[in-house]
Amino acid sequence: MRHCIYPGTFDPITYGHLDVLARAAKLFDRVTVAVAENAGKAPLFTAAQRLEMIAPNVAKWPHVTVTTFSGLLVEFCLQQKADAIIRGLRALSDFEFEFNMALMNRHLEPKVETLFVMPNEQFSYTSSSLVKQVATFGGDVRHFVPPNVAVALKGAFAPGRG
Ligand code: COA
Repeated sequence: MRHCIYPGTFDPITYGHLDVLARAAKLFDRVTVAVAENAGKAPLFTAAQRLEMIAPNVAKWPHVTVTTFSGLLVEFCLQQKADAIIRGLRALSDFEFEFNMALMNRHLEPKVETLFVMPNEQFSYTSSSLVKQVATFGGDVRHFVPPNVAVALKGAFAPGRG
């Protein structure tokens, strides 16, 4: 049984994240999407809301589950008895951050391997922040996020909210 963790802030999840997940779902017997509670990014959505937005989009894969976590990622991986962490590399600009994170995680826990996959190039410029920025000004984000996420973004940025 090979089990991997796909961690992230997912504020919110995008089609780019789901592309990485589809690749992980093909490679592993079990995949856990781990929504970071304490990402220090002042997320727009609470961890519970982010999880709720992800759940219907992973329901088609019986071996994929979604949960939240706090604290160190490698500790969570050990708790979950996971073999690996999977992350996506959209472009060269992701490399340095991901490389440092993978090496730090390896230093903290050598048993947990980090693997990288490349999402489809159509997602190379997709990011949660850009999607939120477009949504803030009422732009159409349906190309980048699943329908339930587009609805949640519309609600979050509706006139008169926060
Ligand atoms: N498609 C679309 N966007 C993607 C993407 C993809 N395939 N891959 C990354 N991104 C974007 C996200 O949209 C997000 O954009 P934003 O910065 O504009 O919001 C950004 O890249 C990264 O977000 P995400 O993939 O959600 O993950 P993250 O980098 O925020 O996650 C954790 C970081 C949670 C994995 C990391 O902070 C962590 O492990 N925290 C726990 C504490 C810990 O152990 N720290 C030590 C680690 S060394």
